[in-house]
Order: sequence, then structure tokens, then C-alpha cells
Amino acid sequence: MKVNQVSLTISAVAESQYPATGYPEVAFVGRSNVGKSSLLNRLIDRKSLARTSSVPGKTQTLNFYNVEEELYFVDVPGYGYAKVSKSDRAKFAAMIEAYLTSRKQLRGVVQLVDARHEPSADDVSMYQYLKYFHLPVLVVATKIDKTSRAKQNAVIKMVKKGLDLNQTDHLVLFSATTGEGKDAVWQWLEATAEI
Ligand code: GTP
Ligand code: MG
Repeated sequence: MKVNQVSLTISAVAESQYPATGYPEVAFVGRSNVGKSSLLNRLIDRKSLARTSSVPGKTQTLNFYNVEEELYFVDVPGYGYAKVSKSDRAKFAAMIEAYLTSRKQLRGVVQLVDARHEPSADDVSMYQYLKYFHLPVLVVATKIDKTSRAKQNAVIKMVKKGLDLNQTDHLVLFSATTGEGKDAVWQWLEATAEI
């Protein structure tokens, strides 16, 4: 999909604020600082529509991006960031849970993992959680530009094994820096959101 029109509709903290338009939605989840906002920017070819940062914990609300009046990308706060206070972490968790478990428009979830490391315990929990709620998942192993080509097969194996990836879920190697994997992510998004 070539994206011309995209805008941030709302940064929501409560269900009453979610957009009422009814477009299909795809959420982006992953550890803090893994590269969710960077993936979003690369998908829509905007440098910094979704705010990125080298400091983890940048995204603190559910950010609904209206893409071409056809679907919403929902940027979700990252998990696993130690410096977020316990009470804030509980607040984020409740907000994310409410969204993932009850949003009718949610068609699927893109879960990002860092291609350089084995999936963390939090990554595994998140994947199991999504599967428990029968959500289609695209796993994106990002920052692949930091791994040599020769090691790409090992990354695929490591991520599939670490998450115990389901047969029906796909895995894409991705880099927000080079754009590698962008078309594959779009293919999944279009098929999953049926747009
Ligand atoms: P939170 O909003 O804090 O949860 O983080 P996030 O997951 O949205 O991460 P963000 O997109 O802000 O990226 C975090 C850092 O990783 C930034 O410094 C990015 O420039 C860097 N980064 C993201 N994706 C890539 C990538 O594919 N390759 C490289 N080399 N760096 C990346
Ligand atoms: Mg972010």
C-alpha cells in the first residue's frame, strides 16, 4: 500500500477515547525501545510521525494512526522497561489488556522482537497471551541491519524456537534503517486487515 494520508487521530488512555469509525485495526507491541514507532514510520514512509527515542518508554498512550481512511495502526507502550514505576507499569498493562482483549476492530497484532537477542521472558508471555485470545500475530524480528546476512537463518531459528511460534503465524526479518522486510509486513497487514 502506498500511503499518502496518515494522521494521529488520538492518543488514548481509556476505551471511551478510541475512534468510533469502525476501520480495522492492527496493533504494534513489543519491548520498550525495540523499534515499534520506527517500524510504523517506515511503513508509512514518514521520518517521525510516530515519536521515536533512544530512551525507552517514549510511547505511553495508545496512539491511533488513521491510514488512508482505511485502517488504524495502533502504537502501544512498550513492556519490560525497568525504569517505569510499578504503578505506571500496572496502568499500562491494564490499558493494553483492555484494548487487546475487547476491541472488536482489532484484526491482528504485530509483535516486534530484537533480532540480536533471544526472545525475552516478557516476549514469550506476550506471544502466549495473544495466542490465548486467538489473535493473528506477525512476528517482526527488527534491527536486522545489525546482524550479518550469514546469521539470518540462525535468527529465524532462534526466534521461532524462543517463542514456540505457531504454524499459522508468520515471521519477517525487518530493518527500519534499510527498509528490509517492509513489503512483507505490508502484505501481511493487507491480508489480515482485509483492505
Ligand atoms: P518505546 O516507545 O519506548 O516503547 O520504543 P519503541 O519500541 O517505539 O522504539 P523506537 O522506534 O523509539 O526505537 C528505539 C531506538 O531503536 C531508536 O534509537 C531507533 O532509532 C532505534 N531503531 C529502531 N529500529 C531500528 C532498526 O531497524 N535498526 C536500527 N539500527 N535501529 C533501530
Ligand atoms: Mg514508541
